[in-house]
Amino acid sequence: MTKISFKSIWEDCEKKNNYPSRANNIKVVDYKDFEKNVTEEKESFVLDIVNSLYSGDIYILKGAYTKEFMNSLRVRTFDYFKEKPSEFHKMLEGCPDFHRKIDIETGKKYALRLCKHSFYFYPWNNDPLNIFNPIYKRWRVIKKLMGMNPEAFEQNTPKDGVIDRIQIVQYPSKIGYLEPHTDPHKHQRLFHSAYMSKKGKDFSGLGFYAIDKKDKILETEDHIDVGDIGIGYATVYHGVAPVNLNKEPDWQDVNDGRWFLSLYSNETDIHKKRHTSSGVSEKLNFSKNIKSQVYPLEILS
Ligand SMILES: [Fe+2]
Repeated sequence: MTKISFKSIWEDCEKKNNYPSRANNIKVVDYKDFEKNVTEEKESFVLDIVNSLYSGDIYILKGAYTKEFMNSLRVRTFDYFKEKPSEFHKMLEGCPDFHRKIDIETGKKYALRLCKHSFYFYPWNNDPLNIFNPIYKRWRVIKKLMGMNPEAFEQNTPKDGVIDRIQIVQYPSKIGYLEPHTDPHKHQRLFHSAYMSKKGKDFSGLGFYAIDKKDKILETEDHIDVGDIGIGYATVYHGVAPVNLNKEPDWQDVNDGRWFLSLYSNETDIHKKRHTSSGVSEKLNFSKNIKSQVYPLEILS
């Protein structure tokens, strides 16, 4: 009999059952314990965690980063790009680090409707803020959990077809949002975020949510502190609702809105048809009430 590993149990689940599309429960666990369990890869843990994630459970891993690291990451990222123009670069050889402001109007042109300010860092550049080491330390744990070589893709550049990308996102008050969607799962099984803002302190409102098995909103932010990691199976529908609905957005303010860190191994633009995120292709049974929570008023009409 082959040894039980993350890889073998994921493959088992994926062979036997359809990919999960709805969230099940939120599980809150200590990051250090979690890291130890992943590293040990004991049979009972492997079976538990893989089956749980494949059933649609979302994990909040407490205290993965310090609050100081996250606050400094937010401020240093914002300052680093402050005087640089908003740009876009395809994921091709030599792609620089850049930032891009996508307002409501521009966001309507995307396959996945959104409004956000994104800051991108790639491992082949000079790591101007020294963030790759601390982030890779945690990312390797998640890659191992996904049944991959913990250091997979770290040395890749766009010509290799799949690359690691650090994305830091500011969702501006009132208008920042990302419609419900599934993430690409071909090169990483789980969405992998880390949180940089705290509900009730830095923002008010729904923020990050998932869609549960009754097509209702599953709220997550009450479980989240700055420095936690969130993971879930990539094909579980999730989105970001606008926050601070009573405040005007301020793209020039580092303290505005809700911030988070997204880690993904992306297919690059050397592929003609990239495997990317997809919006809601099936009809989600949103009530009007839920719709008004997850889409900003401007685009409801
Ligand atoms: Fe996503």
